Amino acid sequence: MELRQVIGNRRSMRFLRPYQPVEPEKIQRMLEAARIASHWGNVGTLRAVVVMRDSAPVEIMDAITAPIAGYQVRLAPVIIVWFLDTAAIDSQADQLRELLAVGALGVGENKSDDLENQLLPIFESIRDILKEPGINEVDCGQGIAQATLVAFEQGLGTCLLGSPSLEEVGHKLGLPGTCRTLLLQTVGYPAESAEAGGQRPRRPFAELFHLNGYGNPFPRSEEVIEELKRDGMLQQPAPLKGREDELEWLHRALDVPGSGLI
Ligand SMILES: Cc1cc2nc3c(=O)[nH]c(=O)nc-3n(C[C@H](O)[C@H](O)[C@H](O)COP(=O)(O)O)c2cc1C
Repeated sequence: MELRQVIGNRRSMRFLRPYQPVEPEKIQRMLEAARIASHWGNVGTLRAVVVMRDSAPVEIMDAITAPIAGYQVRLAPVIIVWFLDTAAIDSQADQLRELLAVGALGVGENKSDDLENQLLPIFESIRDILKEPGINEVDCGQGIAQATLVAFEQGLGTCLLGSPSLEEVGHKLGLPGTCRTLLLQTVGYPAESAEAGGQRPRRPFAELFHLNGYGNPFPRSEEVIEELKRDGMLQQPAPLKGREDELEWLHRALDVPGSGLI
């Protein structure tokens, strides 16, 4: 599948086959994609614990809960607990030295004195600020997004889940105090159709993107839209015919409790 098609096919898949385990290699490919994502200063704060339902201790599975459509946790054969470790920022200077050494900082090794005397003291003076929520979470999001696309490329489905129990989950998993638990990601083989009812609605393009200043919409070419439709990135909008019936069937087949919303 081409990248554009993978992006087009990515949907939050809430209904996973609870009976079909996921090959560890497929999870590894997701993690490899997350690892090579960009991170400011090459710090790399993104971390994960992969929880496999087949082998995880019961108390860990019991601790993992989500308030919105929480049945997904019960269905998923794999749950990736994404977290970040602010301690990585303590060795930021070494990451920058490494970038310089491999020519990835835009200057050569002959500028290492400038790195030591100019750039590193600036970062050092704001180290605690750099550990605060914000830019690190953005970078972790990039890694999680890359992992998500690789999941879909391999025929898997996933859904990201927020939860107020994240801190407790992190505690049960033994994360050090320097860590912030970010998100749960269910992973498995989809029980629903690949279209999952069609591409989900989004806010209008013109509302989101601006040119040269706020309020001047970035021009949207019809030609590009047609091209992306041909490539499978822009797909039939939801709801596709039969989605309501599909959902009812999925709820019955997977024994989803209550309305399925909570
Ligand atoms: C950061 C994040 C947190 C989310 N948390 C939840 C959640 O707790 N429960 C849930 O059912 N869906 C959750 N979702 C899925 C969104 O509701 C979903 O992305 C949205 O409905 C759009 O659908 P799509 O991802 O298929 O395009 C989350 C998505 C993101 C990106």
